[in-house]
Amino acid sequence: MNKQEKLTLVESAIEKFYGDKQVSSSLREAVLYSVHAGGKRIRPYLLLEVLESLQVPITIAHAQVAAALEMIHTGSLIHDDLPAMDDDDFRRGRLTNHKKFGEALAILAGDALFFDPYALIAQADLPNEIKIDLIASLSLSSGSMGMVAGQVLDMEGEGKHLNLEELQTIHANKTGKLLAYPFQAAAIIAELTPELQAKLKTVGELVGLAFQVRDDVLDVTASFEEIGKTPQKDLKAEKSTYPALLGLDEAKEFCNQTLDQANIKLEEIAQQVNFDKEPIVKIVESLRINA
Ligand code: IPE
Ligand code: IPE
Ligand code: MG
Ligand code: MG
Ligand code: MG
Repeated sequence: MNKQEKLTLVESAIEKFYGDKQVSSSLREAVLYSVHAGGKRIRPYLLLEVLESLQVPITIAHAQVAAALEMIHTGSLIHDDLPAMDDDDFRRGRLTNHKKFGEALAILAGDALFFDPYALIAQADLPNEIKIDLIASLSLSSGSMGMVAGQVLDMEGEGKHLNLEELQTIHANKTGKLLAYPFQAAAIIAELTPELQAKLKTVGELVGLAFQVRDDVLDVTASFEEIGKTPQKDLKAEKSTYPALLGLDEAKEFCNQTLDQANIKLEEIAQQVNFDKEPIVKIVESLRINA
């Protein structure tokens, strides 16, 4: 299955979830505005790609799990952009949710995108044991043990000089865990041994860390057209970022070295189980920052 076919399955899983039932048309409109704003979809794509690389044929149920992840990610962006948080006006090339619908509805659209995914996974056609595992890991990656906690640390770190270890903890939680989830979820669905599940999760954590460092670098170097959001916001907000702490060149180098480590782990996994690492290496390589 090619990339477009995979992403189409994910889109239709979301579409179907919100399509045939609604209580509030304004909530639905606000939710779909951000979902359909054209994100890169790297998390759901990775999930399905890792699964296929583990020789598991993709089904609608898998696309529903991938869709659930993208929904939580999108909710996190809506809240991240709120005036009380990063106070951004643009996201995915268009006005942020609160600029378009007002703060109250934006908060509620984010809430909806945090709660809805669990029903979507619970109703998927997969064995119950697997679904329980998928739901627990998604919650742990998103909430007080993951993204939300990372956002709190990020907020508290504004204006402070953090050390590398503290910064790594922020990045690992606010971004790393939701990027590790595709690897973790694929390993759960493929019923890999605990050892291999842990290894795949480590790949995801490395990719996730590199991804946020790359985002920090792009905030400094990229244009609005390239990233679909206002550049150079982190400096203004006195955010603790890798470029702020290490300088731009070292931050790029750190990103690339972290991706190297991910590739080494992928090779180890390919030695142990029937795993076609090439498509995943290709995604890893696409995140590399050229000096
Ligand atoms: C943006 O994530 C927020 C970070 C975690 C860095 P993405 O760069 O994946 O955003 P979209 O989904 O493509 O808009
Ligand atoms: C956001 O990090 C991570 C989230 C959990 C949403 P950033 O605040 O750097 O993301 P952008 O740059 O606004 O996309
Ligand atoms: Mg932020
Ligand atoms: Mg932000
Ligand atoms: Mg950023």
